[in-house]
Amino acid sequence: MQPPKPLTLIVATTPLFPAGEETTRLGIGLKGTLPWPRIKTDMSFFARVTSRPPTAGKTNAIIMGRKTYDSVPASLRPLAKRISVVVSRDTSGSVKEGVLKELEKRREKIATKAAEAAAVSGKTENVEPVTDAIVESSLDGALRALESKADVGKVFVIGGAEIYNATLGLERGVRVVMTNVVRKDGEPFECDTFFPVDSFEGWRAASSEEVSEWVGEEVDGQWKDDGDVKVQMVGFEKV
Ligand SMILES: NC(=O)c1ccc[n+]([C@@H]2O[C@H](COP(=O)([O-])OP(=O)(O)OC[C@H]3O[C@@H](n4cnc5c(N)ncnc54)[C@H](OP(=O)(O)O)[C@@H]3O)[C@@H](O)[C@H]2O)c1
Repeated sequence: MQPPKPLTLIVATTPLFPAGEETTRLGIGLKGTLPWPRIKTDMSFFARVTSRPPTAGKTNAIIMGRKTYDSVPASLRPLAKRISVVVSRDTSGSVKEGVLKELEKRREKIATKAAEAAAVSGKTENVEPVTDAIVESSLDGALRALESKADVGKVFVIGGAEIYNATLGLERGVRVVMTNVVRKDGEPFECDTFFPVDSFEGWRAASSEEVSEWVGEEVDGQWKDDGDVKVQMVGFEKV
């Protein structure tokens, strides 16, 4: 039997150097949201990479913890043109009910927009990825649900810390596509949630060509300015 394909984690982190500690920590969140104000370069990278299917007719999946789902602005969730897989231990059914209600509303909005666009362009054929959402009670359950679904494209694990950690515990190859975020003034961002890997010792740094192949667009690994911050996209593979 072929080993399962490596899973790709996508994350934006900022390096922190806690006083008295020798190792760097990689901050990813603060008070249920991101530690930094909107970074256009990273948000559009995330949107393009996670929503662009490998072939027409497929839809990518994004696996996330319930808290990360909640951190997406209500008007944008579930994220369009992707299958959101929300992992929650909730047994009351309220998480599932909430997600499915939001899915219905979101699909209505997307359908209205598509009808308006078709009226202008005269084109009615639609090979766009679908917008879907499911709720699963474990990471294994999430992966099994995706395996049994037709037309699933790439699968990305999009956080947060608890779900990244669960992914790293799987007997499976893992790739990390990481946006490094630093402030231009050198000040650290305040963070209360951290990526479960502090240093990538024991991992292999991927070349720009490999990362470009994983994400489906050219990534050059160079730092880019975006307002008060600079960002750099890099990749690692667990060996
Ligand atoms: N920088 C980035 O790229 C990035 C990406 C994503 C998120 N974030 C940030 O990270 C923070 C959220 O991370 P987090 O670690 O607190 O939360 P999280 O991983 O997003 O969600 C945690 C929740 O997911 C469910 N869950 C987690 N592991 C599970 C498992 N193995 N089985 C079943 N359910 C499981 C539970 O939901 P229930 O409580 O419903 O049971 C748990 O409370 C936020 O600040 C967010 O903005 C940053």
